[in-house]
Amino acid sequence: MSKLLIKNGRVIDPLSNTDRVMDILVDGNRIIKMEASIPGNDCEVIDARDKLVFPGLIDMHVHLREPGYEHKETIESGTRSAAAGGFTTVVCMPNTNPVIDNPAMMEYIKLKAEKEGHVRVKVVAAITKGSKGEELSPMGEMAGYGAVAFSDDGKPVTSSILMKRAMEYASMWDVPIISHCEDLDLRGDGLMNEGEMSTILGMRGIPSAAEEVMVARDIALARYTGCRLHIAHISTGYSVEMVRHAKAEGVQVTAEATPHHFSLSDRAVDGYSSMTKVNPPLRTEADVEAVKKGLADGTIDVIATDHAPHHRDDKEVEYSLAAFGISGLETAVSLAVTNLLKPGVLTPLQMAERMSLAPAQILKIDGGYLKEGGPADITIIDPDCEVVVDAEKFASKGRNTPFGGMKLWGKVTHTIVDGKIK
Ligand code: DOR
Repeated sequence: MSKLLIKNGRVIDPLSNTDRVMDILVDGNRIIKMEASIPGNDCEVIDARDKLVFPGLIDMHVHLREPGYEHKETIESGTRSAAAGGFTTVVCMPNTNPVIDNPAMMEYIKLKAEKEGHVRVKVVAAITKGSKGEELSPMGEMAGYGAVAFSDDGKPVTSSILMKRAMEYASMWDVPIISHCEDLDLRGDGLMNEGEMSTILGMRGIPSAAEEVMVARDIALARYTGCRLHIAHISTGYSVEMVRHAKAEGVQVTAEATPHHFSLSDRAVDGYSSMTKVNPPLRTEADVEAVKKGLADGTIDVIATDHAPHHRDDKEVEYSLAAFGISGLETAVSLAVTNLLKPGVLTPLQMAERMSLAPAQILKIDGGYLKEGGPADITIIDPDCEVVVDAEKFASKGRNTPFGGMKLWGKVTHTIVDGKIK
């Protein structure tokens, strides 16, 4: 019985603009039929009544931590976490130890993922050797090896001339540069967003301008070089405004926002829980609203988690010593359903676009759509199921979440990768 029949689901396909109740028949690793009613003889049947059937979700910003930081996450645990969260593909960032800055490292990740991975894994390669910001990595070779993008994520490329050269090279292979926009001088040793809350709490602040000056620089460089630029984890209203303006001008820029940046403001830091410590930091309520507006009007193309798992020892310390980052794979869908879908910020079609089709198109990954003959990567979500976030039950090794104990809407009921239920 290799056939799988998904019955009566609300099928959402952003590529064909389909939002209709129908059945999907999977045979092996392909979708072979999509029709109003398909008989279920000799099939394993999934009852998807009142559920959303999305193309498999793609998270284009994930830290799998392997090699080097296996106590925080491994390719095995990270991809298990992805499957639990509804993601059929994850794109891993190169800030491992050693850094993914050469084809041998890419091969290592590829082989490990094939052997131990629960979902598909694509690799972002480093822009500079060791992500040190000093010398370009062998970008051409890595593009040939399947790097879907280049980034020194976790750090900015401080040198503008190096970033310009990186963009010139990347555009030769039409591979995007993902920019971690941060001016390190402006960030200083800040711990949270600089503003009223940081003053009230007596914490050193990170100004919104630390992000914005780099967004401005990189848009100018993308405009100049013609490179495709993707802004990672956008968090401020003015950054969103700059991307909106640049897009209107025809600059090839896209952007992503994380679930924590559309769900929480810096007020969540009240109480000093290190679970709220993340980079870029949680911003003001006005910024959260601007991010939501950007997601709604398409200025922000993608929802990506910036899944940054950390060990207990990295987080169970005073705020100033704690690591930056949130373990995000297993709460992303519920946060999107609760804070975007239910309040009508996004339609189901828009949610599927931001979490599946758009990342596929930006990174040129085959996926993000549901059609006969297409890959059987499918995510089924019950939007009306209430969940209580319990980090102790995460598949991820990283239990670092500020959402623990929160009641949310939306549960991933099935993650299907290559025709197999995970
Ligand atoms: O909070 C963060 N954690 N932001 C980043 O940019 C990097 C990430 C990490 O690798 O832990």
